[in-house]
Amino acid sequence: MNVDKGYVDEPIDPGLDLRSEILRLKQERGAVIMAHYYQRPEIQQLADHIGDSLALAQLAAKTDAPVIVLCGVHFMGETAKILCPDKTVIVPDLSAGCSLADSCPADEFEAYVKAHPGHTVVSYVNTSAAVKALTDVVVTSSNAKQIVESLPEDEPIIFGPDRNLGNYINSITGRKMLLWDGACHVHEQFSVQKLMDLRREHPEAKVLVHPECPKPIRIVADKVGSTQALLNYAVDNEAQEFIVCTESGILFEMQRRCPNKTFIPAPPDDGKCACNECNYMKLITLEKLYNSLRYMQPTIEVDPVIAQRAVRPIERMLDISRQLGIIK
Ligand code: 13P
Ligand code: SF4
Repeated sequence: MNVDKGYVDEPIDPGLDLRSEILRLKQERGAVIMAHYYQRPEIQQLADHIGDSLALAQLAAKTDAPVIVLCGVHFMGETAKILCPDKTVIVPDLSAGCSLADSCPADEFEAYVKAHPGHTVVSYVNTSAAVKALTDVVVTSSNAKQIVESLPEDEPIIFGPDRNLGNYINSITGRKMLLWDGACHVHEQFSVQKLMDLRREHPEAKVLVHPECPKPIRIVADKVGSTQALLNYAVDNEAQEFIVCTESGILFEMQRRCPNKTFIPAPPDDGKCACNECNYMKLITLEKLYNSLRYMQPTIEVDPVIAQRAVRPIERMLDISRQLGIIK
């Protein structure tokens, strides 16, 4: 069986009902399917759980299933594997990476940490296992503010790798964390001009912004938050229209939960598309999900020495999040 491309590249009978075959194989393998909100609608529909990065980590830590199929990007699969070393963790296409995680190579981050002794290292979950192994506490966009605030006020902090999220947390907490200079290519791409035009066309619309967006986008937001926080805001708020500045996959669940509200994706700056997609998230297809369950490949493996170090800051994040009531 061929997994050279990062996924199982085996022919599939075109007459097959992929959805029912996936559900049958899932049952047979004792697998649980978890999907991030940026996944394709057909993947979200098949998943047992959908959620943001924090929810997916927490669900992985809690599940009894021997097999976790994580429909998301590589670092999400790594986080699940680090938390559950004895389980089989599958990401249906291992080349589903993350430009933000890639903007922080572990050797360069290690040199940066060494150049700033005495700092607590706070890392966003969008990092490789090797970067997490250099970290004191991991955060996601759902808990970054509260976890940073839980550290003593005068504690020197290095925050990596997202300069936009780091800058946002500095601005709302008054901290002066040192920021690694990384970013996500999707969230950096929104057009300020096109967002302004959309706001003029839809003056009643609320603007929802992920904190990975740069400041000129964040300052026009009615709500800045993780995918889960933006979804909750859209469900709870009485507004009927929302302009959404994050990866457009989240619109599927927003629309499902709020069928009578209008969700408008904010466009990127490239002059072509009306919405902004993460090419990595969209690598996971029904065909790859089916073949991954059929052959139980490709699995996520993490070097045990790295995993042993990386598990501590992830568990610390989950512990603090439980103590602060962010998760149960
Ligand atoms: P969330 O944790 O908000 O789901 O974000 C994950 C991510 O990759 C954002 O680009
Ligand atoms: Fe990474 Fe950006 Fe894709 Fe999120 S949207 S997975 S941060 S590349």
